[in-house]
Amino acid sequence: MNILLLGSGGREHAMAWKIAQSPKLSTLYVAPGNPGTASVATNLPIAADDFQQIKKVVIEKNIEIVVVGPEDPLVKGVVNFFADDEELKHIPVVGPDKVGAQLEGSKDFSKQFMFRHNIPTAGYLSVTAENITEGIEFLKSLEAPYVLKADGLAAGKGVLILNDLDETITELKAMLDGKFGAASKTVVIEEFLDGIECSVFIITDGKNYKILPEAKDYKRIGEGDKGLNTGGMGAVSPVPFADADFMRKVEERIIKPTVDGLDSEGIVYKGFIFFGLIKVKGEPVTIEYNARMGDPETEVVMLRIKSDFVELLEGVANGNLNEKTIEFDERSAVTVMLVAGGYPEEYAKGDEISGLESVENSIVFHAGTATKDGKIVTNGGRVMAISSYGANKAEALAVSFANAQKIQYKGKYFRTDIGFDL
Ligand code: AMP
Ligand code: GLY
Repeated sequence: MNILLLGSGGREHAMAWKIAQSPKLSTLYVAPGNPGTASVATNLPIAADDFQQIKKVVIEKNIEIVVVGPEDPLVKGVVNFFADDEELKHIPVVGPDKVGAQLEGSKDFSKQFMFRHNIPTAGYLSVTAENITEGIEFLKSLEAPYVLKADGLAAGKGVLILNDLDETITELKAMLDGKFGAASKTVVIEEFLDGIECSVFIITDGKNYKILPEAKDYKRIGEGDKGLNTGGMGAVSPVPFADADFMRKVEERIIKPTVDGLDSEGIVYKGFIFFGLIKVKGEPVTIEYNARMGDPETEVVMLRIKSDFVELLEGVANGNLNEKTIEFDERSAVTVMLVAGGYPEEYAKGDEISGLESVENSIVFHAGTATKDGKIVTNGGRVMAISSYGANKAEALAVSFANAQKIQYKGKYFRTDIGFDL
């Protein structure tokens, strides 16, 4: 089977690494990929949202399944593009269509969906310039801290959590005024939830689903989870507090009603759903959906899937996921993200990376790297994810941290406390 994977980050390298292990695979292509994916697949110099070029290559290379990594092509309608094209419509794409992708693309859409299907989530009010007065009244009815979310995609920066009411009102006005562009023309005000977060993933064919290994990611730049938000500084799986009882509640109260709700509303959702959850007084509450896998969570989730991942992708393509089995690796998996100095604010690119050959017992997933004059250089804020197995979390972390020390580039930074709180 020939597979095309869209995307270029650590998530895509991890998926490519797993797909490449399948005996069912003939050739794996990644568009555009990165130097890491080039080691397990064939990179194609095509942007993940360049649909015309993707069409050309899908036909040329006899692609049989397309897997979409990031949210951007989904929200832009890559699945609809395939469905509406005579030459492409028979080729399955693993990812939701434009409407399904709204679970991530619009916070207002996802909150309404959760309320329609009685899925536990924080109380909220959606505000536009028209009902700003109502929004301010709603804020006054809440207790600090206050949660403001841009409705649309804002590169992970669209959520503000503030302690002061006056500041919150000022920020609400700024957001409605275009602080995050069109993404914040609608703002979702939410009740604050106090608890511990984790990420749960499913793969679904629209009717059946398989739960993938859960993970916890570390979002802040600083140790102790302090400082600015990032795309994610590391992840661990399994998550001890997501025990069997918790996961049973997650499945009954959140996963099943979501898959059934999509189906009952006629939304054909074939792909991954990422449930951003928070455990509040022992009970799972949904913070958000994403229409794709998490990054860096995928860098541990792929390590913990023992079964053939291509079998699962085929299950989505053929609508028979119920006939597939998924087995987890019992070991712990962790990933530690090496980032560029200054990230998530300004940072340099193009710095040479050395020491990769001395890495032992870890899998180095490339996130933001490029090749320049035959050398691997930094090319993004998040540079590489050092992923390791261990009999337990501590063992796995020790391996990742040791290898994180061996890799060198100017301004290298990583958190040494990933997994510290579990
Ligand atoms: P989101 O993009 O919706 O996942 O929000 C980003 C982060 O903000 C989440 O991972 C949480 O850490 C935090 N957050 C979002 N909504 C809430 C809420 N209602 N209560 C507490 N924290 C929240
Ligand atoms: N790690 C969080 C995300 O992928 O959105």
